[in-house]
Order: sequence, then structure tokens, then C-alpha cells
Amino acid sequence: MARERGRPAARAASSRAAADVPATRSLYDCPQWYDIVHEAGTADEVTRLEHINREFGTGGRDWLEPACGTGRFLRVLARRGYRAVGYDRSEVMLRYARDRLLASRLRAEVVRGDMAAFVRPRRFDFAYNLINTFRHLHDDSLALAHLGCIARSLRRGGVYVLGLDLVDYDDPQPGEEVWTARRGLCQVRHVMLSIPPDRRTRRERIINHLIVDRPCGRESFASHYDLRAYGLGQWLDLLEASGLECIASFDFAWQPIVLTGYTRDVNLVLKSRAGRRGPRRIVSESRAKQ
Ligand SMILES: C[S@@+](CC[C@H](N)C(=O)[O-])C[C@H]1O[C@@H](n2cnc3c(N)ncnc32)[C@H](O)[C@@H]1O
Repeated sequence: MARERGRPAARAASSRAAADVPATRSLYDCPQWYDIVHEAGTADEVTRLEHINREFGTGGRDWLEPACGTGRFLRVLARRGYRAVGYDRSEVMLRYARDRLLASRLRAEVVRGDMAAFVRPRRFDFAYNLINTFRHLHDDSLALAHLGCIARSLRRGGVYVLGLDLVDYDDPQPGEEVWTARRGLCQVRHVMLSIPPDRRTRRERIINHLIVDRPCGRESFASHYDLRAYGLGQWLDLLEASGLECIASFDFAWQPIVLTGYTRDVNLVLKSRAGRRGPRRIVSESRAKQ
């Protein structure tokens, strides 16, 4: 998989137009293309997560993936002998995840569930949710409900790795990421553009262009969704109101970092806060840059 990252130039304007057209088909309705583009590199990501589990968590082998999508992580975990459970709210994604596991004779549990509500009677050693998926939860009550579910799902000493981009509202920048990957005779190019959020609505518009080339021809379409934006202060307020605390942070290349107002992409290691029972109300979202 090739990945380029940068700032969009002229394409942003035409994409703004695309963003105003109601999407007839979501990126998540195309699991095979999503999987082709994002599968490469997944095994390395799992290896990083294993290090974190050993260093900060229980080291145990019961793992949970909220919003597991195509199950690309679950397949690697099953190959490595983990007891993995993934859930997602998209039936299309879940069907693809189950079919791929079955085809490879791998075992992982894949169930329907929503990030704001999923709790199992049994607990997990480790949970992870990378690449901004958490930001699909569009308000604080849903986000806090999710963090509460995670706090209730982890064993004592268990950790949750959460990956998200933070925003600087004073210096909003459109973004562009491009992935290109091939599986057999099918090549997929995914261009993801982001229109910066404003401080009031806290919605970042993500526009996805998929271009698929196969021997039978080219197919392409654009779709969009919104992600909830977090400035550093807003994230810290949310975390403070939850039952979790941050015990380590890494950039997306898994280098340890200290969070500042200039931090953008971050993988956070979260753990249940001793003595904290449930979520609290968020009092203020107006923290200055830290
Ligand atoms: C960017 S994909 C990530 C999939 C997978 N975790 C990965 O890393 O490839 C986001 C996934 O979140 C799912 N999703 C979005 N909102 C959700 C919610 N509230 N509860 C459960 N799944 C959700 C979508 O269906 C989609 O499969």
C-alpha cells in the first residue's frame, strides 16, 4: 500500500461541491475496497499494540475492537492465537469480516453493536480503536457513553488504545491523504480530503473519493461523512469527565510524545481511573491551548 499525505490544492474546491451532494453510498458500504486499501500494515500495527499491552496493560489475550469494520485486525489477532471480539454497526462490514474469517478458517467473534452501548458480561484485557473511528460519535454524551462502556469492559489493569487527530481551531488546515493498493487484478485509490471544523459546530467534513480499476473498467464515486472535532482542551475535558485517564501517548508512527496544543495525530493509552465509578458532566469546553 502506498500512502501520501499533504495539503490539498485545487481539488479542495471541487470536493466542497461534492460534499454538498447527498451521498448515495457510503465508504463503509464497500468493505472489499476499504479492505484492499487498508489491510497492508495491519500486522505491524498489531505488533505495536502487543508491545503496548505488555508494557502498560495486563499482557492478556482477550482483546476487543469497537467498530471493527472489515475485521482486518481480527484476522491478524486470530492468526496469532488471541481471543478477539469485534463489533460494528454496519451489517455490510460485519458480513465481509465474517466471510473473510471463515474463508481463512480463522476464529474471532464478530457481532453487531454500537460504540455508545456495547458491553459484554465478560471483560477484556485490551481494547483498541484507531484512525479516528471514535470521532464518529457526534456529541459528548455518546462519546462519554462509549468511554463508560470501555471502562466497564476492561479487566483490572486493562488498557484502551484510542487513535485520533486533534485540531487547532486557530490554524485550521484542510488535509489530504491518498492510499493506493492492489489485490490481484484490482487496484484501488482512496483520496480522503478533510474540510477543517469550526469551533462552534465541531464537525470536520471528510470527503472520500474511491477510484477502482479492474480489467472490466474503472469505477469511481465520492461520499462524505462528518467527524466530531477535538481541540486538546476539549479532549482533556471529555477525558476528565470520563472514568478513564491517559497513561501514555504516541504519535501515529508510535513514537512517545507529550500532548501540547500543537499535537495533531495521537494514539492514547487509556486506563480506568481508580475510584471513579461513572462519567461526570462536562463543565466547560473552553480550555485554552496547553
Ligand atoms: C474507519 S472504519 C474503521 C474500521 C476498523 N476499525 C479499521 O481500523 O479498519 C470505521 C468503522 O466504524 C463503524 N462505526 C461508525 N460509527 C459506529 C458506531 N457508533 N458504533 C459501531 N460502529 C460504528 C463503521 O461502520 C466503520 O466500519
